[in-house]
Amino acid sequence: MKKVVIINGPNLNLLGRREPQVYGNVSFESYLEKLRKDFPATEIDYFQTNMEGEIVDALQRHGFQDCGIVLNAAAYSHTSVAILDAIKAIQAPVVEVHISNIYSREEFRRHSMLSAACMGTICGFGLQSYRLAIEALLDEYDNTNR
Ligand code: DQA
Repeated sequence: MKKVVIINGPNLNLLGRREPQVYGNVSFESYLEKLRKDFPATEIDYFQTNMEGEIVDALQRHGFQDCGIVLNAAAYSHTSVAILDAIKAIQAPVVEVHISNIYSREEFRRHSMLSAACMGTICGFGLQSYRLAIEALLDEYDNTNR
C-alpha cells in the first residue's frame, strides 16, 4: 500500500475556524501539506463531504483498491449504520480517527457506530491523530507483506 485515502465528514471543512478550543486553529488543508511532506513515499488522497451518502460512495470507490483509509466521519460516527455497513463491505483497512477525545466529551459522542468494523480507532491527539492513523496503516501493510 503506497496510497492512503483520508475521508473527512461533516463540518471538518471548517477546521481552523470551528470551535478552535476543541479542534485547534489549523485548517485541514495546511495540515495535509505537512502530512504529505512527512510521508513522501505515500500518496495521500483527501476527500471531505458534509453528506453521509457521499462518505458511503467514497468508501465504496476506494475500498476495493490497494490502499488504506483514514476515516473521520465526524458526527455520523455516532449515528450511521450506512457507513458501518460500507466499512464492512469493502476490503481496504479503515482506521477511525477523531481529533478530540470523544470519551471525555458529551455522552452521545462516547459511542461510535463505526469502531467495531474498523482496524482501530485513534482519538484525542488533535490533528496528529491522522498521522498516527497513517503510521498504523503503513505498519500493518509492512507486517502483512513482509
Ligand atoms: C469528531 C468528534 C465528533 O463527535 C464530532 O461530531 C466531530 C468531530 C472529532 O474529530 O473529534 O465533528 O469526529
